[in-house]
Amino acid sequence: MHVISSIPEMISIRNSMKGSVGFVPTMGYLHEGHLSLMTAARKQTDTVIASIFINPTQFGPNEDLDSYPRDFERDEKLAREAGVDFIFYPDKSSMYPPGYASFVVPEGLDRHLCGAKRPGHFRGVMTIVLKLFNITRPTDAYFGQKDIQQARILEQMASDFHLQLQMHIEPIVRETDGLAMSSRNVYLSPEEREQAACLYKALNTAKTKYTAGERDAKALMKAAEEEIFHHSLAQLDYIELVDYQTLMPLSRITGRAVLALAVYFGKTRLIDNMILE
Ligand code: PAF
Repeated sequence: MHVISSIPEMISIRNSMKGSVGFVPTMGYLHEGHLSLMTAARKQTDTVIASIFINPTQFGPNEDLDSYPRDFERDEKLAREAGVDFIFYPDKSSMYPPGYASFVVPEGLDRHLCGAKRPGHFRGVMTIVLKLFNITRPTDAYFGQKDIQQARILEQMASDFHLQLQMHIEPIVRETDGLAMSSRNVYLSPEEREQAACLYKALNTAKTKYTAGERDAKALMKAAEEEIFHHSLAQLDYIELVDYQTLMPLSRITGRAVLALAVYFGKTRLIDNMILE
């Protein structure tokens, strides 16, 4: 496995690659969720590139950019074990040099869920991912369902901009108690960590009702919300039931829907979701 930091070098190596290229963009501090994307890329494509770049433009002014966990040595080892061929590891000044002035913005898909709570977040995500796509020119790109709004927005971007690649959305990887894997889980105190499984419990409570025939959005969201309220350290940021395609709120489920929520434990914000169909 090779680590490439220079953009011209990454472009030149990519130009010499034959066959399919799988790409897994990450912000590092890898966990099983990232590794499942790398493993899928390894199985399905000839060459696997993973990027590690903590993208400053997707963090809000009061968010955790400075404290975002980092451990490049560990990431390198894990990526190698997952079968990654190249890690693209650029620095901030080459991705956003002085005078940088162009951004990609979503139209509508960011109106709800995290988009409503984190203004500008998806502008940063779309911009960096398009830049990374232009540098690595993957035939296949891999994203996790845990960040479902991100995955849908990027799928839409790929379609709207006629990008010549296949987007893959891979299932959420969970800890044994159901907590979705996330680099931010390390921020949790032992007590918070214990209660953090309530996000998954809440989704499952709603899913049980859905399976029993409930289709009313308010009833399903209320069932999930009650589970969160039973946990003293959890503070609900949002819970929404939206259409899978448009990410617009639903009053009743008639097709493919996403129940998504964000919950604070102290300053740590966790997200999770479940597809109901
Ligand atoms: O999901 C992430 O880790 C980031 O949002 C991404 C896609 C790597 C862009 O910075």
